[in-house]
Amino acid sequence: MSQAQSPIEVRIPEIQAPPHPEWPALSAAEERDLKDRIKALLKRNNATLVAHYYTDARLQALADETGGCVADSLEMARFGAEHEAQTLVVCGVRFMGETAKILNPEKRILMPDLNATCSLDEGCPADPFSAFCDAHPDHTVVVYANTSAAVKARADWMVTSGIALPIVEHLAGRGEKILWAPDKHLGHYIQRVTGAEMTLWPGACVVHEEFKSVALERLRRLHPDAAVLVHPESPAHVIDQADVVGSTTKLIKAVGAMKNPEFIVATDKGIFYKMQQTAPDKRLLEAPTGGEGATCQTCAHCPWMGMNALQNLAACLETGEPEIQVDPATARQAVRSVQRMLDFAQEHGIGMKGKGNA
Ligand code: 13P
Ligand code: SF4
Repeated sequence: MSQAQSPIEVRIPEIQAPPHPEWPALSAAEERDLKDRIKALLKRNNATLVAHYYTDARLQALADETGGCVADSLEMARFGAEHEAQTLVVCGVRFMGETAKILNPEKRILMPDLNATCSLDEGCPADPFSAFCDAHPDHTVVVYANTSAAVKARADWMVTSGIALPIVEHLAGRGEKILWAPDKHLGHYIQRVTGAEMTLWPGACVVHEEFKSVALERLRRLHPDAAVLVHPESPAHVIDQADVVGSTTKLIKAVGAMKNPEFIVATDKGIFYKMQQTAPDKRLLEAPTGGEGATCQTCAHCPWMGMNALQNLAACLETGEPEIQVDPATARQAVRSVQRMLDFAQEHGIGMKGKGNA
């Protein structure tokens, strides 16, 4: 089995990552006031925070303190669907808010900034993606969570990095050929591990694509006791040097479980907050990125995740805007691929608290 050629040429839009947002510094008193305001607004709105590991550490801490969740994209989806709150405030990027709306059409889903998108989502527009699917009618369509609602609506399965491997293994075991979108590095990695026959959409994450393999080799020589942790959206030569490859949750768990005193981490550095909380005595080092001239101007921090801050979180809870809307017909189509993943996770105990490999 191998990575197959597509009969049609896929051209993806060029993605320009925005500069990392610069938020005005807050004094200790201003920060305390903002947090108190947010806590009161959460209560008043019967709302709960659902934050990703890549967001600002203060948002993650607030989500923890207020009974919300800080998680990877699989757990964010599950938590939002299971929690009783009528308003979910998703601190992350747009596809995470859309997934919450698809799963909970009756709930109000707020996000601090709807411009917080993702290069994978932007690089996979619904129309060319649909043509890609039409050109491969005998394939099972598996899309990564980092896609629009319209792309999820065209898919048979939605997966996150925490569950992609067992789902593709399961499908390949049934003899199915897979059309994978949009992350080519993750698709290539899954293809290599599972041996599944996969045709890949050529998208990439502007943050993970910038991790550099030669510089990583150099850093590893300087830190021979360090374990290398890599998110599979990174290029193959970086993944090849990893001691652990996996979702954000899997990488955090590795820091707690492994004996190494140091870790070289190839993913968004927002994750350091939870890693350090999990293992305060361990030393965390950023994996080297392209630096100047790199396509991701921020290097190791997603500029769209950076659009979430205490200031606009408070504003969105105060005004009830911006709110995520998903066309109801699209949501009804999309929920099938999303729910299929959650059902599979439930059935196989994947990513449930304390279980599985997520
Ligand atoms: P996780 O599903 O591992 O949280 O990853 C989401 C993401 O956007 C990584 O860049
Ligand atoms: Fe998208 Fe990459 Fe940002 Fe994750 S880190 S949200 S994949 S651009």
